[in-house]
Amino acid sequence: MTHTPTSRRYLMCRPTYFAVDYAINPWMDPTAPVDTDLAIRQWSALRQVYLDLGHTVDEIEPLPGLPDMVFAANGATVVDGTALAVQFLNPERADEAPAYAAWFERAGFEVQQPKAVNEGEGDILLAGELLLAGTGFRTAHTAHAQVQEIFGRPVVTLQLVDPRFYHLDTALCVLDRQTVAYLPEAFSPGSRAVLRRLFPDAVIARPADAEVLGLNAVSDGRHVVLPSQATGLAAALRERGYEPIGVDLSELRKAGGGPKCCTLEVRGAESRREEGKA
Ligand code: ARG
Repeated sequence: MTHTPTSRRYLMCRPTYFAVDYAINPWMDPTAPVDTDLAIRQWSALRQVYLDLGHTVDEIEPLPGLPDMVFAANGATVVDGTALAVQFLNPERADEAPAYAAWFERAGFEVQQPKAVNEGEGDILLAGELLLAGTGFRTAHTAHAQVQEIFGRPVVTLQLVDPRFYHLDTALCVLDRQTVAYLPEAFSPGSRAVLRRLFPDAVIARPADAEVLGLNAVSDGRHVVLPSQATGLAAALRERGYEPIGVDLSELRKAGGGPKCCTLEVRGAESRREEGKA
């Protein structure tokens, strides 16, 4: 089966002030050394991959004192030209929220304010006409109702159970409108059953791939940009007709992030029409 890519618009934030100064997930060890220059080089290579694929990349200005701001996926959820701003669980990241909201205001998007803890595309992923919404560690279950109300698409709540996979985008990747890849062990029994029902043809990931944040991947419907260390998942994707593209984000992984965490998809008012074509 051949998969047709669609061109995308992404928002990214250069890791100029990247560091691991605090620990808000099990990946983070503030006593371990971090090479910010290497993080910037790895991030630049990721950005270049998107440009080479023909995607548009916008950048938001990084702010000093916000070492996790590189993880743009947590900056908003953007569908059909509406941006739902975020509310972080951890005070360390709180000041990122208004910075991202202001970017969307300036870019001409309608911006809605969150009513509960909501960490953006880290936990809310568009899959065809559905919004898959994670909860359990960061985004509050009560936030899911607002997500459904604002975007007018059915929200499917998925319960995360493994603290290493604290955001939905560390445990599940949307490959195209019909297909996802995920790690069953990261979900509660009921959520696993929901995923089996919705996506009987899903690519099932192995723990070894998820443990290098392999599922923190970005797909344009054909090319799947994922951590180069996730070799098993890359092989499984190739077998299914996708084109895996490995990138090394080892330095950013020290904060618990991979390619998807660094990438916020910006879906303008035209998104519904564009995606419908694929
Ligand atoms: N250190 C960040 C945090 O714990 C990493 C965020 C990763 N982002 C993501 N979309 N999974 O909040």
